[in-house]
Amino acid sequence: MFYEPVKQDHGLPKNPFNSLVIPRPIGWISSIDPEGVVNLAPYSFFNAVCYRPPTVMFASGAGSHDDGLKDSLRNVEATGEFVCNLSTWATREAMNQSSASVGPDVDELKMSGLNALPSILVKPPRVKEAPVHLECKHIRSVDLPNWSEKDRYVVVFGEVIGVHIDDQYITEEGLVDVDQMKPIGRLGYDDYTLVGGETIFTMKRPG
Ligand SMILES: Cc1cc2nc3c(=O)[nH]c(=O)nc-3n(C[C@H](O)[C@H](O)[C@H](O)COP(=O)(O)O)c2cc1C
Repeated sequence: MFYEPVKQDHGLPKNPFNSLVIPRPIGWISSIDPEGVVNLAPYSFFNAVCYRPPTVMFASGAGSHDDGLKDSLRNVEATGEFVCNLSTWATREAMNQSSASVGPDVDELKMSGLNALPSILVKPPRVKEAPVHLECKHIRSVDLPNWSEKDRYVVVFGEVIGVHIDDQYITEEGLVDVDQMKPIGRLGYDDYTLVGGETIFTMKRPG
């Protein structure tokens, strides 16, 4: 089949796009508003985009509040900081819970039964239950072209200025033990995947 997204003529019961760019890592973004209210939400339009300096991005869709912004985006733009927590099999239910559409006054970290840990270089807290935390400084936001206000997406770029790795996930050889961390990724629809065991394989690049 072939379809042109702008014509929305795929003829399928659900938009297949999310099932085609897969698996997507999940940036579990903690931020705070200027009054110090904590916010936590998962973003699977998320990735690392370069090494030096290490840089990540997440894309925020339209929010349901008066200003049309999601709380994470509003907070990052107001305070210039966020933390990206690694979402794993062990925290999958809490991650999902933290995506609930609640008001900006609700701390989703607490609401999801999680514990906060202070960060070192930024004000937003880290999720204690996550094995990896990336402390980030906002670089800039980029508004993407959109078909309507409802389809508005803003890409947020952040420089990773501090990295925490739970020592129990560093092997004796000094490698990150992804097999034990079991990160999860987003597929299309309500589906997810898990990295670990036989899903990990090794290939050397040609010399
Ligand atoms: C696994 C997962 C991935 C998500 N990815 C995105 C995303 O990339 N962009 C987005 O705008 N919303 C995404 N959402 C929805 C947001 O998490 C949800 O709208 C949340 O309420 C936003 O919270 P905030 O307003 O506190 O930032 C995702 C939800 C889940 C469960």
